[in-house]
Amino acid sequence: MQRVTVLLVILCATWQVASSVTSDGLLPNGNFEYGPKPSQIKGTVVTAKNAIPNWEISGYVEYIKSGHKQGDMLLVVPEGAFAVRLGNEASIKQKIKVIKGAFYSITFSAARTCAQEERLNISVSPNLEPKDWGMLPMQTMYSSNGWDSHAWGFQADADEIEISIHNPGTEEDPACGPLIDSVALKLLSTPKRTRVNLLKNGDFEEGPYVFPNTSWGVLIPPHIEDDHSPLPGWIIESLKAVKYIDIDHFSVPSGKRAIELVAGKESAIAQIVKTIPDKTYALTFSVGDANNACEGSMVVEAFAGRDTVQVPYTSKGKGGFKLAKLGFKATSTRTRVRFLSTFYTMKSDNSGSLCGPVIDNVKLLSVRNPGRM
Ligand SMILES: *[C@@H]1O[C@H](CO)[C@@H](O)[C@H](O)[C@H]1NC(C)=O
Ligand SMILES: *[C@@H]1O[C@H](CO)[C@@H](O)[C@H](O)[C@H]1NC(C)=O
Repeated sequence: MQRVTVLLVILCATWQVASSVTSDGLLPNGNFEYGPKPSQIKGTVVTAKNAIPNWEISGYVEYIKSGHKQGDMLLVVPEGAFAVRLGNEASIKQKIKVIKGAFYSITFSAARTCAQEERLNISVSPNLEPKDWGMLPMQTMYSSNGWDSHAWGFQADADEIEISIHNPGTEEDPACGPLIDSVALKLLSTPKRTRVNLLKNGDFEEGPYVFPNTSWGVLIPPHIEDDHSPLPGWIIESLKAVKYIDIDHFSVPSGKRAIELVAGKESAIAQIVKTIPDKTYALTFSVGDANNACEGSMVVEAFAGRDTVQVPYTSKGKGGFKLAKLGFKATSTRTRVRFLSTFYTMKSDNSGSLCGPVIDNVKLLSVRNPGRM
């Protein structure tokens, strides 16, 4: 009997220990493949705080198997066979060992399951910043199958942090809430300006973790919901997200990653760069489409300080790109470089999901001989 108690104490103790994440990718049990014991689940509702290995839950959390039926909706899971659903006021948390002071990005996949507007509050503790959380809306879906991946960036203020995803909802049906699967972490490096580019991370190669098996990219939320951009060097302005796309699943003009401007004028990406007043600069970039059935006439607007250019691009939705350029004379020691999509575009696959032009390979250089521009 005593031995059993000792064993139980050891087991309980190991649950409290933070997982050590050494490489980028899924958190331990980040895709929820390890589930509750039969005694810790009632129907689909998880009944004990530590029932899901590596996680601590609170509130109305359901453990869902892929293929589970809800009314006439079939719930499918992107990674593995299981996911969790966060009902009213439900949360999942995990402690992780990290490098104090380093920048990280969390990526997770979520699907809305009810008609209501759903939101998730993602937070990290401890955190010395005034705002250590982000409220990510789940209502605007950009992918064709209902699942989207979301990124959120933060700076680690301790060697051990706790990541929490919380559904603040208070719906009539307590089971209403988003499904969550595949929670991953990535250590972000800090890109530098180079001799061939005054902009940082102009090719968007550094950014949030992208799940190798998901084909819908990663949404990067606007700056107001995330003080630390998961897209180093860049600020996501305005109110809506942009999409981070990878070459394994999309057409990308240069390198392995690019940005799809999915929210028309409602979202822009920007970077503030040091410039010398009266000097002439050339901003060059690629405009294309992601080979994701996003067809039609598109326009990307680029700004550099007070100068602007509109770049039209006709997409057949099959991939491709063109090069564009904006020459300008700096008027200040700092110039804001900014890109947005003039129009909204919807995919031609009847999914009703938003899409847009792709930008990539953004370079800024000073021009020695402006006469040649
Ligand atoms: C990802 O896809 C590959 C190939 O289809 C498969 O072997 C692998 O198990 C998948 N990984 C996960 C985590 O689902
Ligand atoms: C989000 O969660 C954090 C951490 O629990 C909390 O401090 C914050 O108030 C929450 N935000 C909202 C809008 O509920």
